Amino acid sequence: MIDPVNGFSKFSKNEKISWISKTYLRNNPEAENILKQYWNSNEELQQLHDEFTENTISNFYLPFGIAPNFLINGKLYALPMTIEESSVIAAASKAAKFWLSRGGFKAEILNTEKIGQVHFLFSGNEETLHKFFNSVKPVLIEAIFPLEHNMKKRGGGLVSLELRNKTNLLENYYQLHASFETVDSMGANFINSCLETFAEVFKSEAKLFAEFSETEKDIQIIMSILSNLVPNCLVRAEVSCPVDDLCDVNDHISSSDFANKFLTAIKIAEVEPHRAVTHNKGIMNGIDAVVLATGNDFRAIEAGVHAYASKEGKYSSLSHASVEDGIFRFWMEIPLALGTVGGLTSLHPLVKLALELLQKPSAKDLMQIVAVAGLAQNFAAVKSLITTGIQEGHMKMHLTNILNQLNASPSEKSSIIEFFRNEKVTHGAVVKHLENLRS
Ligand code: MEV
Repeated sequence: MIDPVNGFSKFSKNEKISWISKTYLRNNPEAENILKQYWNSNEELQQLHDEFTENTISNFYLPFGIAPNFLINGKLYALPMTIEESSVIAAASKAAKFWLSRGGFKAEILNTEKIGQVHFLFSGNEETLHKFFNSVKPVLIEAIFPLEHNMKKRGGGLVSLELRNKTNLLENYYQLHASFETVDSMGANFINSCLETFAEVFKSEAKLFAEFSETEKDIQIIMSILSNLVPNCLVRAEVSCPVDDLCDVNDHISSSDFANKFLTAIKIAEVEPHRAVTHNKGIMNGIDAVVLATGNDFRAIEAGVHAYASKEGKYSSLSHASVEDGIFRFWMEIPLALGTVGGLTSLHPLVKLALELLQKPSAKDLMQIVAVAGLAQNFAAVKSLITTGIQEGHMKMHLTNILNQLNASPSEKSSIIEFFRNEKVTHGAVVKHLENLRS
């Protein structure tokens, strides 16, 4: 029976480790070694990471890789990607090279609206509530002036503020629905601070509104929070080329067969949710990797993107393809609320480096780069799926992981990698080959 712990957050790092080791890890000294081997010897850097979050006892490494040769709107980028899955960066690099010789990627920003809501309950006359809202709106807007000061200097701030009746969804449920422009920041803190100010002023002003009855004066604020559903913070990424340029003699498939199969694969993802989820997961392999490397909130991006994928009432593909007049087109429109200032962007040394590598992008530039990473990843996955199958490339890239699991020595590794250059990689085949080598 384990007793609850009190004051865990007040323990020193060593005390925290001793406690979890004693309580959950049978005092295994190896556990302590594993945790401590990831500590950074640079104490300042370690402290910086400790302070990103709470109760830190170690660091969790993810690979930081590069996918070069991304031609986006005529500019060549090398994309920083933080991801643990083998073959994702290789696939992105391959797709980048493929489209480099076919005009590259085009990307454009369609909109940059962010949304926040104050959710509240009001029991009374709706018309009087509207009257109150119209009279208090200038007061609400003025109340956030101090918060908006810096944002306005950068060209952002509150864009609109509406009262919305949601009583068809829930009894007495209304919202203050606000939209914002947050320029180069993701804007979460700014938006949430504005919303909490709106809520406070809205509630207190209601008490003074002469036309409200006593019950109406008692507006119940439930919560104030930004929405990660940002269907109007939208970016489009696209590639196109003549169908005839899609394949060459080495591809074992004709260009027109490839185009037809590709279009059918996309159609399947458009109409069949099981396939759509996996298809979009492939897109997120590219998106999350760049989002993480640039210090953005991948959970917010994931939530917003998947909600957007269901916007027609059924989960569907985020990407689409067509062939018209002999031209193959492949595109995607996707909501991405990203920032290049604020948050981790000026704190995490690798994030700073990633942004420098991307030539210090604005949030709009980053939205385009990230959307392209998603489209490229999707192209690579679907291309493999409809030609060689995904396992050929995936298992080749996964070979090193298998060898590490089997504790292969450096010389065993290089001999086996050489052997499997032209052989099909399966776990069983690698085990067998290693056993042969060792005997
Ligand atoms: C694996 O991480 C991603 C894929 O399953 C995506 C897809 O099926 O399109 C290969």
